[in-house]
Amino acid sequence: MSHRFNSRGRLNSFGRFNREEQMQSSASGYGRPYSQRPRHPPGLKGKEIGLFYRNLNREKKKEQPTLRLSPHIEQKIKTILNNSKSFYSSIFDERCNSEYDDKYQHIHDSQFKRKFLEIINGNIEHNLVKAISMEVKLQRNSNMDTILLNEYKDKQIQDNYLNMLKFRQKLPVYHKKSEILQLIKDNQVIVISGETGCGKTTQIAQFILDDQLEAGNGSITRIICTQPRRISAISVAERVAAERTEKLGKSVGYQIRLEKIPTREQGSILFCTTGILLQIMKTDPALKDFSHVILDEIHERTTESDFIITLLKQVIPKRTDLKILLMSATLNSERFSKYYNECPMIHIPGFTYPVQEFYLEDVLSLIQFRFPEAESTVYRKYGKAQRERYKEKVHKKEDFFDIIQPYIQQLRAEVKYAEHVLSELRNPNSENLSLELIEKLVRYICNNKQPGAILIFLPGMMDISQLNKMMLESGCYPPNKYIIYPLHSRMPTIDQKLIFKEPPDDIRKIIIATSIAETSITIEDVVYVIDCGKTKLGRFDIAHNIQTLNPEWVSLANAKQRRGRAGRVKSGECYHLYSKAREMTFDQYPLPEMLRTRLEEVILQIKMLQLGKAKEFLASIMDPPDLKAIDLSLNLLRTLNALDEEEHLTPLGYHLAHLPLDPRTGKMILWAALFSCVEPIFAIAASLTFKDAFYCPLGKEEEANKKKLELSMGEYSDHIALAEALRRFEVARRRGNAGQFCREYFLSFNTLKLLSEMKIQFAQYLYEMKFLNSDNPGDKNANRNSNNVALIKTIVCAGLYPNIAVIRRASKNGIFSWTPEDGSVRTHPSSVNCKASNFPSQYLTYFTKQRSTAIYLHDTTCISIPILLFTGPNISIKREKGKYIINNFNLSENIICESQTAEVIQELQHALNCLLEYKITHPATVLWSSFEGQILNAIIELISQEDREMGYNKEDIYYSSD
Ligand code: CDP
Ligand code: MG
Repeated sequence: MSHRFNSRGRLNSFGRFNREEQMQSSASGYGRPYSQRPRHPPGLKGKEIGLFYRNLNREKKKEQPTLRLSPHIEQKIKTILNNSKSFYSSIFDERCNSEYDDKYQHIHDSQFKRKFLEIINGNIEHNLVKAISMEVKLQRNSNMDTILLNEYKDKQIQDNYLNMLKFRQKLPVYHKKSEILQLIKDNQVIVISGETGCGKTTQIAQFILDDQLEAGNGSITRIICTQPRRISAISVAERVAAERTEKLGKSVGYQIRLEKIPTREQGSILFCTTGILLQIMKTDPALKDFSHVILDEIHERTTESDFIITLLKQVIPKRTDLKILLMSATLNSERFSKYYNECPMIHIPGFTYPVQEFYLEDVLSLIQFRFPEAESTVYRKYGKAQRERYKEKVHKKEDFFDIIQPYIQQLRAEVKYAEHVLSELRNPNSENLSLELIEKLVRYICNNKQPGAILIFLPGMMDISQLNKMMLESGCYPPNKYIIYPLHSRMPTIDQKLIFKEPPDDIRKIIIATSIAETSITIEDVVYVIDCGKTKLGRFDIAHNIQTLNPEWVSLANAKQRRGRAGRVKSGECYHLYSKAREMTFDQYPLPEMLRTRLEEVILQIKMLQLGKAKEFLASIMDPPDLKAIDLSLNLLRTLNALDEEEHLTPLGYHLAHLPLDPRTGKMILWAALFSCVEPIFAIAASLTFKDAFYCPLGKEEEANKKKLELSMGEYSDHIALAEALRRFEVARRRGNAGQFCREYFLSFNTLKLLSEMKIQFAQYLYEMKFLNSDNPGDKNANRNSNNVALIKTIVCAGLYPNIAVIRRASKNGIFSWTPEDGSVRTHPSSVNCKASNFPSQYLTYFTKQRSTAIYLHDTTCISIPILLFTGPNISIKREKGKYIINNFNLSENIICESQTAEVIQELQHALNCLLEYKITHPATVLWSSFEGQILNAIIELISQEDREMGYNKEDIYYSSD
């Protein structure tokens, strides 16, 4: 079924509430339509306009409007509530809260209940013991051993295989083959380190498999090898299958989210992402289906790999026959060995060709370049205070000048560089990323150097697309001589695979990449590396409870990896775009991801694997996260009602932990199933967790924003635009003109395609969990309310709560709003609400709040008060001085509520909570013909009342011009 928003969906989406009633209720004096509210007199300018609205505001505050339902609706809701009361009291009053064991007495016996209680009462040790006593797939089968051995022998006389073998035998790792195999035999855990490209990933799993096949152990050998990224899992599996002259799906396969080619169950190697291994461990904690686990690229210290390393420590003593191999690039491998009780390490000396290094000072000697001037004069001209502020701005904590001055003096003494080079080095702008400099350098290499691919490292996606565009538009890189590939982990897998192909002889390949090309991907023909020295690191600022994403200097380890990329096929060159002096300030290693992210998902995993209290488990990780970060995430999980006070999973938490989603978006898709509006909410949830499909072509920002605004259909919502983009894409795809649609709306075809697939995956999960009757997200029964925009906003807000901001004022530069934690925040320029005016309400809900140059809300939806009433757990109505007050939303506002209305809302809130709790604990779809459907319909009716009905003080937003 294809649902459709109409821009006034909330008025005609339910027939029983007609326009006439609307008019009546408007006429009864609460909530004038906004169009009738006073606007500022013409002729006012700038500040005057702001003042006009501010005064108006003050007036308004004196006569605060009262929230009141129309008598008609009120009556209807009351009837529904009365009908359903007996049901809830019969279920929920039986329940006894005192004893933990009895806490879930009210849940009827079901598979869900048994599994849930097992999880909250179980513990990993017990599970491991139990798992080990159960039967395994890896049973010795002599017949199969012989078949597998003969198959392997046959291979060894094939020309293809032998040709490949010749290549393989040249890899440095080959010389260590027997040593590695012996170490594995003698130890349960070993650490293997070696230069990128020495053959760890492609060869070691094969060494083990072949050795076992030869020994007649094929039937009891199954190797799983994890990769930190989707693309490496696929490309490595393909490569290994090719080396074995097989198609994928026999002895080699891969599994990543949404894509897999399984292997045979015995005598095989499965490459997968780290997330998949974690998923497997939830049902098979003892990893009974595997004989060997290889954790690859552990030096990257992703949250998932750190988690698994910790978890495996508990599995090892119980499964003494399981072999564990930790593989890393040549950095810091001792730490892993130490963590595993000083397990043996083996190092594979790499073979790479020499790489000549150039620093910024050398680059500036090679090409004429001037950094933008202005700011260094500021430095000279102004006083100390300004200088201090300026220094802080450009260089954060370290002092650029303290580093560079002595260095320049030293260079001058050595007379190695021309004066103009030194003067450029002295300019603080020399430490800002300059795409112009990079482009000039690329051109220099192309014109003056031998053939060979160029690999450019940039911090982020935006920089990559800007440089790409700059190069294409310069006309200096005609397609008959150059082929340029942007490479980013968020790009779809198909595009990424092209990059490995070697171009024809007279074409130079230029790859513009992020740090993804540092270790996990080997692009053979690279001879020249340009390293900007920066990388974008997501960090979680605990003190401010906010996510940040800023380019930072790389660590020495990263820089070394980048350099190494140039020496794969012959001697190469690496151009660092920072001075040697700057390099001295680099950290040795990058900070583990676990110390820079929010921990909600990690905590849910801890609970699902029954690892006990979050703090205890997290304390046993190699580099444990800050206690305060753990507390913040525990609190959010409690706010979402995913954990109870004792830190046990709640039934909701249990479901959320099963979904491969952030718990907030997980909550959204659960609600979507219950409220029957699956298509749009799944689209939004997929976009928020994966990535949205909008891209912003340089120079066409305005046009792209307009198109996005069009997709938001006047609803003041980025989330509605996300849903509508995918809806229209799917329609266009059926008609065969999706490509054109994507170009017209500045959307990525590949991303939309993946989002579409994710929707199906969500439906499959919820179908398995029994919240949907079909695994088709387009099913009619799952979409009866998909065209109700107010409902969609409500569900988005329910997932995102307590992420609410209050709009304070609009200016030329966008909307300024207020959040309790950060005070004033801005709306990101890419949001449809950035330049909006005449908001129907002053509340915004948002998913991402991030600090970069300022604190920005990236995606927002304007929500009305009735919507807020049903989304936050701590929104209550209380009686104060004879009036009913809806208080807080964690915000400062109080809203006065008419007493009858207050009563009805409170009862409805209660009924919703009971209904949700009932459904969550008795997974099934809503019976729309019963009181369940009536309660939900009552809520839908209430929230769908146009903001004009129950809206509130739009003019609280006053306009100023700054
Ligand atoms: O894991 P490590 O960095 O040690 O090396 P690898 O990924 O096993 O790659 C070893 C060699 O196999 C590379 O140097 C490439 O020559 C080749 N290879 C390839 O041709 N295609 C791939 N997809 C992966 C590796
Ligand atoms: Mg590797």
